[in-house]
Amino acid sequence: MKIVVIGTGYVGLPHAAVLSEYGHQVYAYDIDETRIAAYQSGIAENIERYVNEPGLAEVVAENLNRYLFFTTDITEVAEDSDIFFLCINTPPNLDGSTDMTYYLDAIRHLAKLLARRKKNQRVVLVNKSTVPIGTARLLESVMNEHGVENFGVASNPEFLAQGNAVEGSRRPDRIVIGADTAEDMQILRRVYSQFVNHVRIRYLETTPETAEAIKYVSNTLLLTYISFWNGVGARLAEAMPNIRMEDLKIGVTADARISTWGSYVSNGAGGSCFGKDIQSLIYQLNHAGRPTDLLRAVYGINEYQKRYLIDRAVHEAHFKFNQKTVALLGLSFKKRTNDMRDSAALQVVESLLSRGVHAIRAYDPLAMDEARRNWFNPEKNYLFERITYHDSAVEAIRGSDALYISTDWEEFRGLARTIETTVRPPYLVMDGRRMLPDYEALVAAGYDYLPVGGLLLRGKRDESFEPGDNGHAMVEPVGALQ
Ligand code: UGA
Repeated sequence: MKIVVIGTGYVGLPHAAVLSEYGHQVYAYDIDETRIAAYQSGIAENIERYVNEPGLAEVVAENLNRYLFFTTDITEVAEDSDIFFLCINTPPNLDGSTDMTYYLDAIRHLAKLLARRKKNQRVVLVNKSTVPIGTARLLESVMNEHGVENFGVASNPEFLAQGNAVEGSRRPDRIVIGADTAEDMQILRRVYSQFVNHVRIRYLETTPETAEAIKYVSNTLLLTYISFWNGVGARLAEAMPNIRMEDLKIGVTADARISTWGSYVSNGAGGSCFGKDIQSLIYQLNHAGRPTDLLRAVYGINEYQKRYLIDRAVHEAHFKFNQKTVALLGLSFKKRTNDMRDSAALQVVESLLSRGVHAIRAYDPLAMDEARRNWFNPEKNYLFERITYHDSAVEAIRGSDALYISTDWEEFRGLARTIETTVRPPYLVMDGRRMLPDYEALVAAGYDYLPVGGLLLRGKRDESFEPGDNGHAMVEPVGALQ
């Protein structure tokens, strides 16, 4: 098949690369020339500057100029391509609705090209990135307005998680195709021929609207699992003695009807998808005049969860953040990425600064450049000058009064020893990811330990920990970071 992928970000590039592995002729198009030049170089470092996914650079290099072509001009290939996958970013507006500006620009440009086709063979236009329910219909009307002939529209949502794009594309759990005609379904079967009739992979054919809805319901259900565990399971273990969080999880999820995914309690789920998609679904349902209580609760629990441990430190541990130095380990929204969009660390920093901390000593294995440049740039807010960046966890911890673990990087699991050898109690460890299996040794050595999904454990030491006022300092609030 001759395929064009429009938009080469986290959705488009892995999709284009893996399609090219199956011998299709794939043209990956983007308006960003420097991005396309980076991909076209075939050099891993250049590619990973834009999309950092395990194995992706290798797939690109192997197929480059054989099955995979990068371009900023699709005027010619538009003439006889079978499929266009639309992988354009659709960021959120402030009211939760979806900003369709880039999408609309792209499809109008495409409509003009397709309207000029001479051969007029059947072409299917497929929405791949997450777009509001009804967008396939919008796409259809824009094509009709421009006089495009012999086309079909479809929805084929992407279900990949970041960090697993290549493997996930090669072995998805499902392929969902929403299209209107048997002819268009058939064209898409040829694209995904390796998955049709697969013994394990579900290949579902349905309406475009259903396919669009499947994506929103999937993501909001996943976030509901997380919020349920954070907002119910973890709360029990934080409030009542002798409840072991890990055993609680095992006992509950042993029921085959209950998902194990989502039971990993945390300081909130971040990333570019969950928050954006649930807000968009709330907006879409509101717009349709339907109640959204459950979704609003799920979203609210998840957002509060990102600041919650700091509130617990103040109210339960009576920790005074004012003028303290706090080590912050982990800035990205999950391990193995430098992506900080909607990361809990953003709200942790905002909360710490508004409580008047003297300094935040940050460390992340991958995201420090991203943090410096895009999120905590002192040019955006002078309070960010209080954040310093360190080359290792131990360096960040040195000289601090408290520690906050915000991301589940594996290297943080062994931190208990590092803490013991680097700082002296009284010292508060806030564990937003339950990363310290040997926390008991830490507590025995006098350190206070405050985890999500667990009681505050006071360090065993002679002198009493200094409680006091809650340390709210007279500093300007940082304001929304996102
Ligand atoms: C998510 C979904 O998992 C994908 O299925 C979906 O395709 C994708 O969004 C998308 O719409 O593009 P992703 O954002 O890459 O994928 O991240 P996840 O691995 O799902 O993690 C999201 C957040 O939830 C992270 O901060 C993670 O640490 C947190 N999490 C995850 C928990 O707090 N607890 C858990 O049990 C699982």
